[in-house]
Amino acid sequence: MSLSSQAIDVALQSALSAISAASNLEEFKAVKVEHVGDKSPIAKLNQSLGKIEASERAEFGKILGAAKAAIGSAFAEKQTQLEAERDARVLIEEMVDVTLPASNTHVGGLHPLTVIKNEVSDYFLSLGYAIAEGPELEAGWLNFDSLNIPADHPARTMQDTFFIEPLESGLVLRTHTSPVQMRTMLTQEPPIFIVSPGRTFRADELDTTHSPVFSQVEGLVVDNGITMAHLKGALDDFAMKMFGPDAITRLRPSFFPFTEPSAEVDVWFNNRWIEWGGCGMVNPRVLETAGIDSTVYSGFAFGMGLERTLMVRQGIKDMHDIVEGDIRFSRSFGLGL
Ligand code: DAH
Repeated sequence: MSLSSQAIDVALQSALSAISAASNLEEFKAVKVEHVGDKSPIAKLNQSLGKIEASERAEFGKILGAAKAAIGSAFAEKQTQLEAERDARVLIEEMVDVTLPASNTHVGGLHPLTVIKNEVSDYFLSLGYAIAEGPELEAGWLNFDSLNIPADHPARTMQDTFFIEPLESGLVLRTHTSPVQMRTMLTQEPPIFIVSPGRTFRADELDTTHSPVFSQVEGLVVDNGITMAHLKGALDDFAMKMFGPDAITRLRPSFFPFTEPSAEVDVWFNNRWIEWGGCGMVNPRVLETAGIDSTVYSGFAFGMGLERTLMVRQGIKDMHDIVEGDIRFSRSFGLGL
């Protein structure tokens, strides 16, 4: 491009009109490249300045300098204008109406029964026990026979047990968590240290103290030289964990087919003895059924109702509150996580 005042004017005018036509910052950037970039007419005219006679250079240098200055200030002005427009637009587009009413979303939480179940599990895990689980639909053999509960035992009658049709399936809804003891012993070698929290089922009417669906936690320890003193120590510590530092347990002689000797566990809480669960030394017959040599190993076991534990500890008077799922009940416990 040859240098002439006309050529400079054409470049200037086309830059100025392109700048004024730019309607947003993206267009503005493109205009800048086109009119002042390396390949722009102005840049080319600038290059040809070196090639002309020295006598003319001063004059054209002045005209070109003035054109560049005019283009530069037009760019600066346009940039300020477009940025202000963008800022104003963003303020409108991204506006948040802080006066709108907040939507009242409820945060979920755990049912108090789940909280206490987790609390029990965490406690035993911290002692080195493992959590064992078994199915709620259980083989009758595991629920009863393997645990030395004979065919004529009252617990097996229609009033207590939910039998599953067809009856020849031999399946029941487990009436306690004790079959998990047998499942564990059948599949693991001593030393065994497990607890098994879970749901259990009995054909009871729902009333203030009973529910046909309830929960238990089973404990089982089998190792060399396990004695009833270990059982008592474990129960006392568990009781303190659940009921506070003043809690101790008392064992009353009792009978369970799967433990020998057996005992009822009472806990001292709020200045009185409360029936808490059952326990005992694993019946050698049960160990032998599981293929564990009862002349080498011994064990203890215990089972507690979790609803009962929760009711006693929190002073809950009515089982309905636990099973009905009214959120106001859970909320009164602070929706534990
Ligand atoms: N399974 C018993 C029940 O449901 C509770 C129980 C008693 C569990 C003594 C045990 C135990 O492990 O040793 O009534």
